[in-house]
Parts: sequence; C-alpha cells; structure tokens
Amino acid sequence: MARRAGGILRPRIPARIHLGVILRYNITQYNDTSRGTPMRNPFSPTAGFMPPQIVDRDRVLFDFETGLEDGPGAEERFMRVSGERGMGKTVLLQKMCAMAEERGWNTVLTEANEGCIDYIRDKLLSFISSPVASASLKLPVAEVTLAAEDATRVTLRRLLEIYYERGGAPLLLCVDEVQDSFTSEVREVVQGARARFGAGDEIAIVLAGLPDMIANARTARGLTFLHRAMGEDLGLLDLDRVRESYRQTFEEGGARVSMDALGLLAESTGGHPYLMQLLGRRLWRRWGGSPDPIGIEDVEAVLPEARRAFDDAVVDVVLGELTGRQRDYLEAVARRGGEASTREVAEDLGYTDADGSPATTKASAFRAALIQKGLLKPAGRGRVRLAVTLNWTRTPRSPSMSTQDTPAAPTGEDSGETPYDPSFEKAVLEDVRAWRAGKLETYSLEEVEEHLGLDR
Ligand SMILES: Nc1ncnc2c1ncn2[C@@H]1O[C@H](COP(=O)(O)OP(=O)(O)O)[C@@H](O)[C@H]1O
Ligand SMILES: [Mg+2]
Repeated sequence: MARRAGGILRPRIPARIHLGVILRYNITQYNDTSRGTPMRNPFSPTAGFMPPQIVDRDRVLFDFETGLEDGPGAEERFMRVSGERGMGKTVLLQKMCAMAEERGWNTVLTEANEGCIDYIRDKLLSFISSPVASASLKLPVAEVTLAAEDATRVTLRRLLEIYYERGGAPLLLCVDEVQDSFTSEVREVVQGARARFGAGDEIAIVLAGLPDMIANARTARGLTFLHRAMGEDLGLLDLDRVRESYRQTFEEGGARVSMDALGLLAESTGGHPYLMQLLGRRLWRRWGGSPDPIGIEDVEAVLPEARRAFDDAVVDVVLGELTGRQRDYLEAVARRGGEASTREVAEDLGYTDADGSPATTKASAFRAALIQKGLLKPAGRGRVRLAVTLNWTRTPRSPSMSTQDTPAAPTGEDSGETPYDPSFEKAVLEDVRAWRAGKLETYSLEEVEEHLGLDR
C-alpha cells in the first residue's frame, strides 16, 4: 500500500470503539456523496463526532456557561462529566470548548493518556508564544517564548503559573476518558489547575469519564479535591426531544417524516444518543432525497441493522468489561423484565442461605458494582432496575469480538442499502488488525475500494 494521502481512517481513533464500525461508516459516508444525495447525511454515528443537534444537554451546557461568565470562584468552573459509553461525553467537551473559544478563552481538549501532559504543555507554549497572545500582552514575541528545553523541565503546574504571569487568556482544560485510573497525568492536571483556582486565575477544568471514575477518585491519593467538582451525569435523552430533533433535522434536509414514523424512531432509540445517530443515518440514506414522505415502514426497514450495529459497538464492549457474575446479575434483572427485587435475582442466580432461602447479601457486591458503573439503578426498597435498556441477554463475544465471528445477515425487507456481506466485514477487520499492529496507517479511498472490491 504505497499511497497514504487522502486517507479515510482518521489517525486518532478513540481506543475503545469498535473499529469495524468506524471503517464501515467512513466508507459509507463516501458512498453517500457519490450517490449525489442532496444534502450530506448529517447524522454522526461515530464516537466523538458532532451530531446535527446536541439533544437534551442544555442544562449541563447552561451550568458550564454560567461558570464561564461568573468569574473565578464559580463552582461550575470545575466539572466532572460522567456517562456510559456513547452518552455523548466527548461531543459535550467539544461543545464546551467551542463555547469557551467564542468568549475568547484558550482551550485544550485531551484524553487522559501517557502523552497528555506533553500535549497540554505544547498547547500552553503555543498560546504563550503566539503573536496574538504577545500582542495582547504588549510584549515582543521573543520575550514571551519559552525555549522548548525549559518547557520540558518545568512541571505543568509551573507552566500554568508562567502562563498566567504572562497574562494568558482565560483557559479551559478538558480531559476526556478519565475512567481507567487516576494516573499521575490526571493528578498533575488536577493539581496544576487547583493551584490556579487558588490564585484566583481565570481557569476552568472539565474531566469526563465513565460513571465509576467518581468512585475511583475517592480512593485516589491526592485527588480528594475532585469531590469539589460539580458532577454532571449524562443519562438517556428525553424521547420528546429526540423526536423533535429528528423532525427538525430531516425537515432541514427537505424530508417530511410522518408523525407515527417520528414516534417510532424516537421510541426505538430508547433515548440513546449513539443509537439515535445510527438510526438517523440509515433512515436518511434510505430516504435518499425522495419527495415521498418517510413512513413507519421506512423506519421498520432500517431498525434491525441499526440495532445490530449498536449491539456490536456498545453492548459487547460494556459486557466485556464486566466480571462473569456481574454479567449474570445484569442478565437476571433483564430476564425479569428490567426490574426485580434483589431477592428474586438471588433466587434466579441460585444464591441461598443455609436454610435454602434466597441470599441477597451474597449478590450485593455485584449489585453495588453494577450500580456504581451506572448500569443498574436502585428502584425502591430492595429493588433494582436496568439503568440502560440494552440487549443485556445477548451472549458477549470475546473482547476482540468483532474480529472473531461474523454476525448473521440482517432479516427483513431490503432497506435500500447494500445487503450485509460478511466477507466485507472480514476484509475490513483484517485491515483493522494490520492497522492495530502498526502496519497500516491510513487508507486512500482507492485502496479501500480495491481491497474490498467495491465498484466506483
Ligand atoms: N446530545 C446528543 N444528541 C444527539 N446525539 C448525540 C448527543 N451526544 C452524543 N451524540 C452522538 O452519540 C455518539 C456518541 O457520542 P460521544 O461523545 O462519542 O460519546 P461518549 O464520549 O460518551 O462515548 C456520537 O455518534 C454522537 O454524535
Ligand atoms: Mg468519548
């Protein structure tokens, strides 16, 4: 593969998303335009991609905005955003950065990983030494430029101090994917920011991660400060808002959608942002610019495929991270219709006391872990219910699942899309393996087409 230009595989792909899905979408995106659809498909079923509308997150964004405008000391200037995978944390951070930039803030958005301190450092240096910054500081560029060697020797905390000493603009630091552990990197960012809060500087920080990141913080040394952060938990979207957003987005593209189709669409998402995008994207593609209104049968035609893609991308990943017993517990609740008493679950799982009665305490650790992960919710005395309605009874595939077996072809009517072709997925996945092994960086469109035998 000689040509790398015009690659369609983006270089920075969030580690946890199902790569096959990304590839497929990038390819279909390309197909959409080649078919001459009047308006580009606005739906964005890819992790971290901005949706046509950010639905039902006004409250969080309002809080954030309040913090920006309220000045140093506002509690909204230190937020932690939690939410299950696909709930929209990354796009929310992007939106926050855009809002801050509109107000003249400098922003840094990074994932919590080994290189993130260097990344933040580089950004800070670029802000400090940019001609714009130096103009506003009324200093010659040479004077405000910190030599690269100096920069690597100073801690982030010190660099932040220098940034403000030199009159740097208000600064927003966003750290995404904080779930795994509170690494020394995250600690360095939080402590650096903390010192600036203490000094009354114009700084805001937002950390985002899975719901259990908060629990981890409690046990992380040196991070008790995190308790002071304002917690925002991103849950499922309100279905009325989802319906209205679908209506507007399709209308803007020139499509009319019948009332019952809109109802079914919204309901089928279960309020899940990612599924909302998956479904929207497929329906848009099926509509294809036709003057006929979109009806309920169109929604029905695209549902199975969207659902399956969703299961692939989300459910398997979540299930793959649970222990066997946690999975059993979740499944038992699902089998009881999504809500059950802890006693019923204990009974189903065969946990009994010496006298043969169901032993709820034996399962309490798994229950607590699932609640902490945001997958179960307490539902009144001794009862729990599923917090996210997903297909929990599905048998998980191995973590590299999507690379192992081939899902069944979708059933139902022809959706107007290319029929699902297992060999296509296999070919894509082979390339994903190569990509993971560092043998392949990006594809050119020609390469993908050639490789997959697609017609132009
Ligand atoms: N508020 C929202 N309304 C509609 N779609 C959303 C919203 N938030 C996220 N999405 C879509 O959901 C998917 C997941 O978003 P992302 O920010 O990557 O989630 P997370 O970072 O929590 O895993 C993306 O396809 C994105 O376009
Ligand atoms: Mg994300």
